[in-house]
Amino acid sequence: MDWFLIVLVAILGFPGLSYSESVMKYGAVGDGIVDDTSAFQKAWEDACKGSSKMGSVNVPAGKVFLLNSLHFTGPCIPKPLLFIIDGEMIAQSDPQKWGNGENGVIPWLIFDQVDGLAIVGRGLLDGQGKSWWDIHCRDHPGPMMTFSNCGNVTLKSLRFRNSAQTHVLVMGSQNVYIDDIKITSPEASPNTDGIHITSSTAVSINHSDIATGDDCVSIGDQVNNLNVTFMNCGPGHGVSIGSLGRGGTEVAVENIRVSHVNFTGTTNGARIKTWPGGTGYVRGIEFFDIRFSSVQNPIIIDQFYGCAPTCVETMKGVHIEKVRYMKMSGTSATKVAMKLECSGESVPCSNLFMRDIDLSPADGIDSVSSLCSFAHGSAQGIIRPLSCF
Ligand SMILES: *[C@@H]1O[C@H](CO)[C@@H](O)[C@H](O)[C@H]1NC(C)=O
Ligand SMILES: *[C@@H]1O[C@H](CO)[C@@H](O)[C@H](O)[C@H]1NC(C)=O
Ligand SMILES: *[C@@H]1O[C@H](CO)[C@@H](O)[C@H](O)[C@H]1NC(C)=O
Ligand SMILES: *[C@@H]1O[C@H](CO)[C@@H](O)[C@H](O)[C@H]1NC(C)=O
Repeated sequence: MDWFLIVLVAILGFPGLSYSESVMKYGAVGDGIVDDTSAFQKAWEDACKGSSKMGSVNVPAGKVFLLNSLHFTGPCIPKPLLFIIDGEMIAQSDPQKWGNGENGVIPWLIFDQVDGLAIVGRGLLDGQGKSWWDIHCRDHPGPMMTFSNCGNVTLKSLRFRNSAQTHVLVMGSQNVYIDDIKITSPEASPNTDGIHITSSTAVSINHSDIATGDDCVSIGDQVNNLNVTFMNCGPGHGVSIGSLGRGGTEVAVENIRVSHVNFTGTTNGARIKTWPGGTGYVRGIEFFDIRFSSVQNPIIIDQFYGCAPTCVETMKGVHIEKVRYMKMSGTSATKVAMKLECSGESVPCSNLFMRDIDLSPADGIDSVSSLCSFAHGSAQGIIRPLSCF
């Protein structure tokens, strides 16, 4: 099946799709009460082996499927394997019934070692995280949807809400295209990142709206070639490169572009955060065409993440270099609109560049300023508040 057809399917659904070709054929009930986990598992196994008629898993509209943890493992024969979600999938909401209750970090829907996968449709995935937000995160399920060691993945047009923690996790994967998705969780829900990417290359997130209790997009150690474009972010904690280098780990984050993004009422906007004592680099980062509306830290580099209140300058640190901030405007909800706090004299931030930055105080703030330490670079055009370079 070619990509054009996949897009068509995402837009139109499969008009001729009958229940006999969907998860219903495998015994799913879809009343939101009966647990349909085993029907989905069987539907996946058949589709993956190439023995289902359409080489796909189909979740029909108008039904609600209650599901416990599901492990969708490849490699699969159809390339791409289509997973069409037009109905609603809801996670088991009872912590007692979760994954036999033995281990809290069992993910909900995990795709593992699948090369060529298109998950498309107008459906809704609901993590029913409410019952977990109030209990210790040690007992939480894992992310709602995980891609682990996958390649050539398209995730399109779906809606996600109320994850117990991260909504979408991309790890150890390549060529992942996320387009036109919506993620929502309450502002007060803990650790509900929108999309977290780690140890992956060539990932793009386009035309998506994310409003959660944590980062809209967060980026872990070892990520190369990521584009985040045309996104509305907020409420939440913004786009965060990091936290990186925890416990002295090796960081290699490169080639990240965040453009055409609106941050509304978020705690951060363009953020890079590293733990003291990490090694490696963050370089080739670009933030371009960004609007802030009442954002607490619109532009921030924090190389002392996680060490407060006893932070000390260290000889080691993740080297941040070649970061470009261009065409960024809007309002800051705190006085320090631009904060660049780099590791120290032995590992300063280098080659930072700013052009056309115009930040003004949000209602209730008199003025805005910038604060920098060990940040070196250059600036062009209007820079408000004054840059430190
Ligand atoms: C993805 O597709 C490309 C081109 O068809 C192929 O070369 C590659 O091996 C596939 N897998 C991954 C993991 O990128
Ligand atoms: C990201 O954008 C750059 C520049 O437009 C492009 O060269 C690169 O291929 C894109 N990467 C992905 C994963 O879409
Ligand atoms: C993102 O969307 C824009 C505009 O709609 C489009 O030009 C661009 O190619 C898309 N990027 C990717 C990686 O799909
Ligand atoms: C960001 O906000 C502007 C102004 O309201 C709007 O024109 C633009 O479409 C928004 N961007 C996205 C990705 O929706």
